[in-house]
Amino acid sequence: MFLWFNQPMTQSPYATFLSHYPAYSSTFALDELRQTDYSRLDRTGQVYLDFTGGGLYADSQINAQQQMLLGGVFGNPHSSNPTSQASTRRIESARESILRFFNASSAEYVVIFTSNASGALKLVGESYPFNESGHYLLTFDNHNSVNGIREFALVKGAAVTYVPVLPPRMRADDSRLEDFLAQSQPGAHNLFAYPAQSNFSAVHHPLEWIERAHALGWDVLLDAAAFAPTNKLDLSQVKPDFVPISFYKMFGFPTGIGALIARRSALAKLHRPWFAGGTITVASVQGEKHYLADAPAAFEDGTLDYLNIPAVETGLDHLRSIGMDLIHERVRCLTGWLLENMLEIKHANGRPLVKIYGPVDTELRGGTIAMNFVNPEGRVIDHRFIEESANRVNISLRTGCFCNPGAGELALGISSSELTTCFTRPDHEQRLTYDEFRLCIDNKASGAVRISVGLVSNFADVEAFLAFARGLTE
Ligand SMILES: Cc1ncc(COP(=O)(O)O)c(C=O)c1O
Repeated sequence: MFLWFNQPMTQSPYATFLSHYPAYSSTFALDELRQTDYSRLDRTGQVYLDFTGGGLYADSQINAQQQMLLGGVFGNPHSSNPTSQASTRRIESARESILRFFNASSAEYVVIFTSNASGALKLVGESYPFNESGHYLLTFDNHNSVNGIREFALVKGAAVTYVPVLPPRMRADDSRLEDFLAQSQPGAHNLFAYPAQSNFSAVHHPLEWIERAHALGWDVLLDAAAFAPTNKLDLSQVKPDFVPISFYKMFGFPTGIGALIARRSALAKLHRPWFAGGTITVASVQGEKHYLADAPAAFEDGTLDYLNIPAVETGLDHLRSIGMDLIHERVRCLTGWLLENMLEIKHANGRPLVKIYGPVDTELRGGTIAMNFVNPEGRVIDHRFIEESANRVNISLRTGCFCNPGAGELALGISSSELTTCFTRPDHEQRLTYDEFRLCIDNKASGAVRISVGLVSNFADVEAFLAFARGLTE
């Protein structure tokens, strides 16, 4: 009659999660915030797992923007009339707020508004004084907008070298970095670019690399687009020369605004290839002469998005009021639980369901998980099928190579000779579709599935994804 006492007490998954990640309870304020400021997520039944693609805005950010727009009159900032001055004050206030957020001194750093992180990267690429003795060094796991700078380097005759990352964990071999850094030419212009957080594997590359590179004559471009939304970047502690960011990734709204946070000393090296409205003090048609304004104006082409730039300050205040440490902790706990559970899911024959590309613990990584799903025979399931299946249950995830082909090629084992064979076929000289590309690399997996958690992700979101994944073993 007392038999039931011997039955094991099964813990709910949530209780197990909390016992594995007790620090999660310190982030409960974010559950409340989700109810009040992001209620549309649960109201619409969306499971949003693409925070590395784009962050989500809070209702309060939109209300603040609406109040600003309805309560003021704002004119083009290129004048000195009252409505123009009102815009200029908001823009300068947003600039200062960005410097404060990243703890950057205005004596040392300048904020240049761009349309996104790619715009910031293009500014560096087109203006950096690459020449025949210069060098562009970059890790394999850079976003395409960082890879694209190589075209500027190559045209000017500079050497381009990639530092590999090693699958399956996708970190660079730290002990070999010195050999790469030693390739700088003394006195030449050498630029080293890497992501603080990879948007493919979520690996955090060491910020200590910045000073190691400086010591060997490199300027450093630290791509913080994927890092800044969930990690503190303190520019009083680390001193990269160029830092591109996109604000929609940090707090969802506004889209269309990014920044290049640049060291004044490094900016002085850049040569703009043209001038535009707003970038000059004087330009003459008959005199064929122009004089560039000081930074930041010299780098901001045309009229800034003066109605949306004030929303950047609102977004930064929003993050500050929550606390970056809290956001980081939340993301760490949810990522750890996802990794732990994804690795445990097996097919009936015992074969694991997923292959994860990147670290499988929470050390020095962010909240992005790149993976492929594998069928019971061990063949990768086409990522497009996974995306279509996820779409049907309102899960927003990302598939493909996430604009990060280098990491994808290494993770998926696509060799350089396979790529060369494919790209040098006469019929592929001008154009190549995705299906043709896949065919010419022997139908190998050419992409992956990416999920990413962020500021207002919760346990229900990650459980929804785990349930979806478990369903793929049936
Ligand atoms: C690491 C990284 N760098 C740069 C970018 C480019 O950002 P954007 O598309 O906003 O220009 C992204 C976008 O995903 C990114 O993740």
